[in-house]
Amino acid sequence: MATISLIDLKKNYGDVPAVKGVNLSVADGELIVLVGPSGCGKSTLLRMVAGLESVTSGVIEIGGRNVVKAEPAERDIAMVFQNYALYPHMSVRGNLEYGLKNRGTPREEIDRRVKEAADILEIGPLLERKPRQLSGGQRQRVAMGRAIVREPAAFLFDEPLSNLDAKLRVQMRVEIRKLQRRLKTTSLYVTHDQLEAMTLADRLVVMNNGLVEQIGTPTEVYDRPATLFVAGFIGSPPMNLVPVSSLSGDVAGFGLPAGTDIVGIRPDGCFLEKPSEPSLTLDANVELLEPIGGESHLHVRLKSSGQSIVLSVPGRPEIAETTSVQVFARLTDLHPFNTQTGRRTDIV
Ligand SMILES: Nc1ncnc2c1ncn2[C@@H]1O[C@H](COP(=O)(O)OP(=O)(O)OP(=O)(O)O)[C@@H](O)[C@H]1O
Ligand SMILES: [Mg+2]
Repeated sequence: MATISLIDLKKNYGDVPAVKGVNLSVADGELIVLVGPSGCGKSTLLRMVAGLESVTSGVIEIGGRNVVKAEPAERDIAMVFQNYALYPHMSVRGNLEYGLKNRGTPREEIDRRVKEAADILEIGPLLERKPRQLSGGQRQRVAMGRAIVREPAAFLFDEPLSNLDAKLRVQMRVEIRKLQRRLKTTSLYVTHDQLEAMTLADRLVVMNNGLVEQIGTPTEVYDRPATLFVAGFIGSPPMNLVPVSSLSGDVAGFGLPAGTDIVGIRPDGCFLEKPSEPSLTLDANVELLEPIGGESHLHVRLKSSGQSIVLSVPGRPEIAETTSVQVFARLTDLHPFNTQTGRRTDIV
């Protein structure tokens, strides 16, 4: 096991910067999830840690040792990819053993590790099959098994679940979490699925455009997004961002910090009945009600500005579309931001 430290890590492809100076310390045994939109540099970062991509500048330490010049094989890490990359002509057992054989691991040791990985992943009965005889989820397990048998200092995952259907993804997500808790192997996990990120991570790293926007536990990032980008990216449906200029009533009395020109309101922080706590009121017209099971998403258009916002409301309220409504949000639930800096205004 090992710590991983990235110090001012940069990567340019030609003169195009993909990673623009990332600092990150991963504790021993921690599972860090890198999340962000397509093209923000997640895979590039992971591939640099793996040694599959050269570093333009900066330092990568694994277990306290700077590895930027080390070959991938010298870094003692195992990577699990989106497409599994199993050898099609080899059995599951062959796939699991391959890396160990190459490294000259003794036979009894190979057998012990393969048996242990197969037990953990419950793929014992599949060991003599070929990859094409497996379901997507089973292939994914074999890919995990191949990483586990290496007993590496760290695991790197690049969207390992993105080829699976929604139900299997949820199942495998839970299994990866359990597995990582059990093995306590330091892990970096890349996804652009924010639900996957929220549920798996000890800490989240939200990236945008080659830079880190925020690092924190999923709860910290959800409850106090540091930037407008994070506010809009984490949370589903996304946070509503309402310009202060379109709020009515005594805005001064809302106690918003200086410099606030936009406030974020989570869909589940919007109510159709006035709360007892101090709140703001938005006059709106109902546009659309989407029932999604136990709750509904109510889309409304603000009368002041014409902006559409979304409310998460319990059950299936009987509201005719085009009805006029008042939407309430507690002042303590508002997230204040400045659009120039893109940052929260209540961070002291
Ligand atoms: N080999 C390459 N040559 C040139 N540009 C590249 C190369 N690989 C990636 N890039 C660029 O670097 C940026 C970051 O790419 P990267 O693959 O790291 O994104 P990502 O966050 O993993 O995105 P996704 O979620 O789509 O996988 C993108 O603008 C991409 O076009
Ligand atoms: Mg990627």
